Order: sequence, then structure tokens, then C-alpha cells
Amino acid sequence: MAELEIRNLIKDYGAWRAIRDTSFTAASGEFLVMVGPSGCGKSTILRSIAGLETVTSGQILIDGRNIGGLEPSDRGVAMVFQNYALYPHMTVRQNMGFALRVAGRPRAEIDAAVNRAAAILRIESQLDKKPKALSGGQKQRVAIGRAITRSPQVFLFDEPLSNLDAALRSQMRIELGRLHAELGATMVYVTHDQTEAMTMASRIVVLNGGRVEQVGAPLELYNRPANRFVAGFLGSPRMNFIAATVVARDGGTATLHADGLSGNLVVPLAQAAVRTGDSVTIGIRPEAFRDDPGGITLSGRVSVIESLGRETLLYLDAAPLRAFDSESLEGHFAVHRTRQITARPGDPLRLGIDPTGLYLFDTEGRAIAWPSAHA
Ligand SMILES: Nc1ncnc2c1ncn2[C@@H]1O[C@H](COP(=O)(O)OP(=O)(O)O)[C@@H](O)[C@H]1O
Ligand SMILES: [Mg+2]
Repeated sequence: MAELEIRNLIKDYGAWRAIRDTSFTAASGEFLVMVGPSGCGKSTILRSIAGLETVTSGQILIDGRNIGGLEPSDRGVAMVFQNYALYPHMTVRQNMGFALRVAGRPRAEIDAAVNRAAAILRIESQLDKKPKALSGGQKQRVAIGRAITRSPQVFLFDEPLSNLDAALRSQMRIELGRLHAELGATMVYVTHDQTEAMTMASRIVVLNGGRVEQVGAPLELYNRPANRFVAGFLGSPRMNFIAATVVARDGGTATLHADGLSGNLVVPLAQAAVRTGDSVTIGIRPEAFRDDPGGITLSGRVSVIESLGRETLLYLDAAPLRAFDSESLEGHFAVHRTRQITARPGDPLRLGIDPTGLYLFDTEGRAIAWPSAHA
């Protein structure tokens, strides 16, 4: 087990700054997930750790030792790629033993390491096959097995499940969790998929535009996002955002007006920085709406309904009020209920809004209030 520390990492590709002064630490034995949209710099950071990129500045330390100047094979890290990167002309056994063979390890040691990894990944029966005879899931296991045989101090995974179908992906999520528990190794796992991040991580690093937005345990980030980016990125469907104006203010509350709601919302808000007349963004999680039509309500028509059996996902067209930055192009509100709802597209629907269940963001996108349960 080993601690991995990234200190003030900067990476330029010519004039383009891909990584902007990024620092974070993966504790010994931790399953750290780096998550962010495509192009935010996840692979660049991982490749920098592995020694496949030359960093512009900053340090990469394992247990306090700077590995920045070392060859990839001397860093004590092993990387698993999205596209498997197996050698097509070698058998599974040869693929998995390759690094040890190159390192000149004795035959018996290589065999033992390959057999052990194959047993952990349950691919013992596949060892004499060539990669082209394997399914996508089996290939990914071989790629992981190849990393395991190297006994690295740190495992690096770059979107290893992206090429698998949905059922296999959720199975592999569970298996990777099991593998982590079994090996107890430090793992840094990169994904653009917030579900993988939420379900697999001991802690999540949220990246955006080459910068760290926030680091924390999955539910910490979900419940108390530091800003609108994190709030919108974690959670599916996304949080609904509404533009609002502060129309009254006292020490502990702000009264908010948004055109289209049935009345003004009186939201608990201790932050001194917000004044009457300020613009704010209200955030409402899809699961935060209430059936109860008492109090302040949002009215509209059902535009899409997905009945999943034990739960229902629907989109509400509340024109003229629009949710901005939403997944549905028309700015419809995403609503999630943990029960069956019999409604059809076009049906009118009125939902209650609990003022103590809202998020608030300032004009810079910084969170200034969280639901009372998480405040
Ligand atoms: N070799 C390269 N040359 C120039 N730009 C690159 C290179 N590799 C990556 N980039 C750019 O750096 C940014 C981060 O890329 P990457 O780390 O691959 O993102 P992610 O893995 O999060 O999708 C992107 O804008 C990408 O276009
Ligand atoms: Mg990538």
C-alpha cells in the first residue's frame, strides 16, 4: 500500500494549459475516483502519474518519494486503459506475464503471479486463448490481470468500463470493488460517469477544465457541493436550476422571487454576503419536489414520463419558467418520485417546493446554502 500525492501539477500542450495547478492525495489503500466531463484532463493526469507524459511543472510523490523523473516501468504504478491495449499475438497468459518477463523474473514467479491474478479475476479457463477470442469483458479482465501481476504500489484505471455494455458495467463495478477490498491497494480510477464515481469511490476528485472543483466522499459532495458545477455533475437526472432574485432579506432568511412559481420562497440563509436585489440560482434535486400542493408550487404539464416500476422519472414543462443548464433541451424540470405515477404526456401536474430542501448559488456559482438536512 502506498500514498500517492499530486502536488501543483501543471501540464501544457504547446500554448494550451490542459492541467492547471492541480493537487490532491490518494491515501494508502484508497479507491480515489477522478471524475469530470470529457476533455477536463483526467487522462492527462493519469498518464502523467504513469510517466507517459512529461509534466510542465509540479511533483508526483509515492510515499513521499518524488517519482517524476523515473521511467514508467520504475514508478511502481500499473495502468489499465479503456481500449485494453492487449498484445494481439500473445495468449492471455503471455499478456499477463509480459511485464514480469521483460523484467527478467524467474519463470516460476511469473507463473505464480499470473495464476493468482487469473484466479482473482476468474479467467483461469481463458489463459491459453488469444485476445481476439475473448469478449469485451474478458479482455478488460486480462488488462486488469496484467496490472495485478506487476504488484504495483498504485493502480491507475482510465475509464476501464466505458467499452462494456450496461449490464456488464454494473457487474464490473461490483467486481472492481471486491478486487480493491481483496488487494487493499491504492487505486486511482478515472471516469466521466458520475454513477461509477458515486458507487465506487472512497473519495471523489471532481475535475473541470483542468482544475479540481472539489474533493470529498461521494455523499459529502452530493449533499454539500461547493459550487454549481459539482451540484450539476453529481446526480442523475441533474439538479434543476432556476434563476431568482432576492426580494427581501433578514439575518436568517432570504425571500426569493422567480417568475412562474406560485409565490415567493422564504429560504433559510445565514450568509451575510447576499443582499436584497442580488441575483441567485436556486437548485432543486429531482427527488426534492413534493406531492403536497400546499405552500409554494411549480405547475406545468408532463412532457415525458418514464415508469420504471418502483420509481418514476418525469419531465415537467413549466413554461414560462425554465430550468437552465438542464439535460432536457427545452429546459423542462426533471422530477424523480420513488413510487408509481399514472400520468401521460400533456397531463397537468403541480408539485410542492420545500424551501428548506433547496440549494442556492451566487452569481459566481459558489454554493451559499444547502438543504437544511445538510446545512
Ligand atoms: N497530446 C495532446 N496534444 C494536445 N492537446 C492534448 C493532448 N492530449 C490531450 N490534449 C488536450 O488536453 C485536454 C485534456 O485531455 P484529456 O486528459 O485526454 O481529457 P479527459 O481524459 O478528461 O477526457 C483536452 O482539451 C485535450 O484536447
Ligand atoms: Mg480520457
